[in-house]
Amino acid sequence: MRQAIRFVVGLVLGLALLTWITSVLVQRTTRNWFERDTSLRALLVVSGARQALSSHWREGQSRELRSILTEITRDERIMAASACNADSSLLASTADFPPKFSCRELAKHVRSSPDASIESWSAWHQPDSLPGGSVLVSAIPVLDGEQPLGFVVLVHDLSYAERREARTRQFVLIAFGFLAVAASVITLLVARLSWRSWSDEIHRLARGEAPKQPEFRPILRDVRELVDRIMVEKETEMEGGAWTPQRLKLTLKRHLQGEKVVIVANREPYVHERQADESIRVLHPASGLVTALEPVMRACSGVWIAHGGGSADRETADRNGRIRVPPGEESYFVRRVWLSKEEESGYYYGFSNEGLWPLCHMAHARPVFRSEDWRHYQTVNERFADAVCEEVDSDDPIVLVQDYHFALVPRLIRERLPRATVMMFWHIPWPNSERLGICPWRKEILEGMLGSSIIGFHTQIHCNNFIDSVDRFLEARIDREQNAVVQQGRPTLVRPYPISLEWPVHWLIGGPSPEECRSSIFADLGLKPDALLGVGVDRLDYTKGVEERFLAVESLLERHPMFRGRFTFVQLAAPSRTLIERYRQLNESVEQVAARINERFGQGTYRPIILLRSHHEPPTVFRYYRAADVCYVSSLHDGMNLVAKEFVAARDDERGVLVLSQFTGAARELTEALVVNPYDIEEASSALATALNMSREEQRERMRSMRAFLAEFNVYRWAGRMLVDAARLRRRERLTGRLAEHLVESTSS
Ligand code: G6P
Repeated sequence: MRQAIRFVVGLVLGLALLTWITSVLVQRTTRNWFERDTSLRALLVVSGARQALSSHWREGQSRELRSILTEITRDERIMAASACNADSSLLASTADFPPKFSCRELAKHVRSSPDASIESWSAWHQPDSLPGGSVLVSAIPVLDGEQPLGFVVLVHDLSYAERREARTRQFVLIAFGFLAVAASVITLLVARLSWRSWSDEIHRLARGEAPKQPEFRPILRDVRELVDRIMVEKETEMEGGAWTPQRLKLTLKRHLQGEKVVIVANREPYVHERQADESIRVLHPASGLVTALEPVMRACSGVWIAHGGGSADRETADRNGRIRVPPGEESYFVRRVWLSKEEESGYYYGFSNEGLWPLCHMAHARPVFRSEDWRHYQTVNERFADAVCEEVDSDDPIVLVQDYHFALVPRLIRERLPRATVMMFWHIPWPNSERLGICPWRKEILEGMLGSSIIGFHTQIHCNNFIDSVDRFLEARIDREQNAVVQQGRPTLVRPYPISLEWPVHWLIGGPSPEECRSSIFADLGLKPDALLGVGVDRLDYTKGVEERFLAVESLLERHPMFRGRFTFVQLAAPSRTLIERYRQLNESVEQVAARINERFGQGTYRPIILLRSHHEPPTVFRYYRAADVCYVSSLHDGMNLVAKEFVAARDDERGVLVLSQFTGAARELTEALVVNPYDIEEASSALATALNMSREEQRERMRSMRAFLAEFNVYRWAGRMLVDAARLRRRERLTGRLAEHLVESTSS
């Protein structure tokens, strides 16, 4: 309405200006017409009286001439007349002839010089003014044959023309005034009516009814999207409080209409293994990825597509490779993809773990890139992308692609399902661009990942490294403000999402108390009641710094003899990727280092290092966490490291100390841990000594603070934030898509 009023004010001002211009133009034109008419009439009058005028003129009969002139002035528009001789003297004039117009003055205009020839004489007309109003003066030559006798001067009254002009101006003003009022009223009326129809439609929309007028539909659809978005954002703001499985489920429902979530990850959450006694056992693999994502899937349901690598996986799945999990509380599906020995060797052991894994970790292992492995990697990525297409039930599914095994999958999905929302999470570090340059297929890897809508890393540094890599190796626009890479107008957001654990960890519910754990573990390991226990839990991987850890224990015993015979460090080491030479070497060297230290400081049954090289199921792992005085996580390079978080989560008694490598993502969050450089053996051993001497109050304070952090920044929040960002992006893409549709429609119609 305010706009309509503004329009009306503009309209009135415009019309006023137009009126003024018009009236000036009208006045000029009519004045010209009047003057031309009057001049013409003057010529007619004089030519009508020419006969009489010239005969009296020749005779010099001024009295007779005056009566002719008086006769001429009977015309109501001729005020006065005079007759001037050829020599510019006055011959005769009517009684009230204005002296202003002397024969001498006017003669200049009628002829150029007193003795000029006949050709140089011509009629002359000029507007002028007298006190009574405006006049037109005409001087018209009178000839006798070819001989000029003089000229007649007629003074015409033009006041009637002024009166007519005033009336015309009045009329123009009234007409334009009427027009202005009419246009304003119509504009306001139309604005009011359209506003009412708009507000009616919006009210209808707010009440959830369909709009009546079809032309409003596209706009109202956009309004609805906007309202939805505002509501969603408000809800997210207001939701507050802790992130729980219920809240995650609700978020999925509200923001993504309860879409089914499809996860693609190499490692499956439940592996079926045939045992020596022919029975089948379900194992939970040692994988930070599985630890984090399994609770998310339990909350959201959907499908987890993974490599079926267990010895009894085929016989436990249906003919499509599907199985409902978790066993006993089935809430989502695992879809197993079967790989041949060659595929597994090339894609998993070769390209993923001998190529990309050492490429991304600064742990002094040389990456090996073989073309054969790359071919398998491409084929297997294609197979997983096909599996995604088989599992989704719409053309715009939400797909969460996990880790370095599937760098090509986002693009492959985008090619198959252009409207899909693909999020890729890279669980390990991303190298700087110089290091990435080692990989012969760096461009293909980057292009593949950029098929995603969002790419997530644990830390901002890894996001920066990724963006720099794109900048260095690809032709793409980097939007540094949005932290996005834009290719062909489609953005891929690059964001840090530090991963975490479920809270509370379900393995702890109903489990033994820390005291029970301590006494049972002490009994299992044959430790004295006053012994001090350190724990390490890892896959046997060279990035975990297990040798450095043992060296720190050795240094502790060396520099602090009080702990000899008393401190034992137990290492739960899950065998991992054992077909790879570097891992085999690690197995041996870890064993050797442990044996050497045990040899050096062992006494009787006392061994400072206990290396338990086998797979341990989560309940056992948690028993160790709860029994220990200190947990040492010494990774040489780690995206996040969930062992550190698990140890904190396990200590609901607020006891125990975490010694943590500064090269883990977790060190940025768990700042109350004793943060060390694992390469600095003395510093690490001092931290172990500090931990073992730490008062209960300090332990409690540190633990409490870290636990509060984990309770808030749990994995439901991690997933929730990613899904909300995806939903926002999805809405934006839909709106832009619709806008494009409107544009196409309007240009084609
Ligand atoms: C790391 C990777 C995961 C992987 C896990 C275990 O955490 O980021 O993707 O599952 O190691 O490795 P594995 O090769 O046994 O799956």
